[in-house]
Amino acid sequence: MHRSRLLRVIEYDPRYREQVFELANRAFNYSRDSYWASRDLDKCDKAFIAIVNGKVVGAVELGYIRLRDGLHAQVGYIFVDPDYRHMGVGSALLERSIEFLRKKGVKAVWALTSPNNEATRALFRKFGFREFTNPRELREMLSSRDIGKLLYKMVYWKGDIILYLPLR
Ligand SMILES: CC(C)(COP(=O)(O)OP(=O)(O)OC[C@H]1O[C@@H](n2cnc3c(N)ncnc32)[C@H](O)[C@@H]1OP(=O)(O)O)[C@@H](O)C(=O)NCCC(=O)NCCS
Repeated sequence: MHRSRLLRVIEYDPRYREQVFELANRAFNYSRDSYWASRDLDKCDKAFIAIVNGKVVGAVELGYIRLRDGLHAQVGYIFVDPDYRHMGVGSALLERSIEFLRKKGVKAVWALTSPNNEATRALFRKFGFREFTNPRELREMLSSRDIGKLLYKMVYWKGDIILYLPLR
């Protein structure tokens, strides 16, 4: 795919709701994550979608988390149509998200994934995210109150990988 010509990343607006719901079903194989990704779409603080030839092929949902040292953010759900993977769509969505959050003055971006989600880990690693395998490792930079708030907001499950990218 010639990315620069075909792929556009734009702000989500509710006119695309049904298309994103359908995308979430396909991307998460009609699992519980399809439901939560659809539910969060209009509840999150910001969402972007990727469009190829008029078709919605990817989406990312962002949320703010206020911690003691300022504003942080999480990349919640990020998902790409199975037929459009490995073409840079996820990268374009994450790049746009980081650019947006940097402009907002966010201190750091966080995300969660399961250890066996190689695609997600590869995507975030590409953008320089650091991985933590245990929340205790966060103690070097956050108070226990902030760690609790962060994990609660991100809906952390034991065993998840915590991804972290400081922005300034
Ligand atoms: C994770 C996901 C969004 C990546 O989207 P994508 O459009 O395929 O990502 P990109 O094409 O931009 O690839 C990003 C990098 O990850 C790597 N990558 C992608 N899929 C990979 C896989 N299955 N295994 C290993 N590496 C992978 C790519 O090689 C690329 O690195 P490169 O540019 O150095 O070659 C997509 O696989 C997806 O929708 N997965 C299902 C939903 C999901 O689990 N979301 C995350 C949890 S919310």
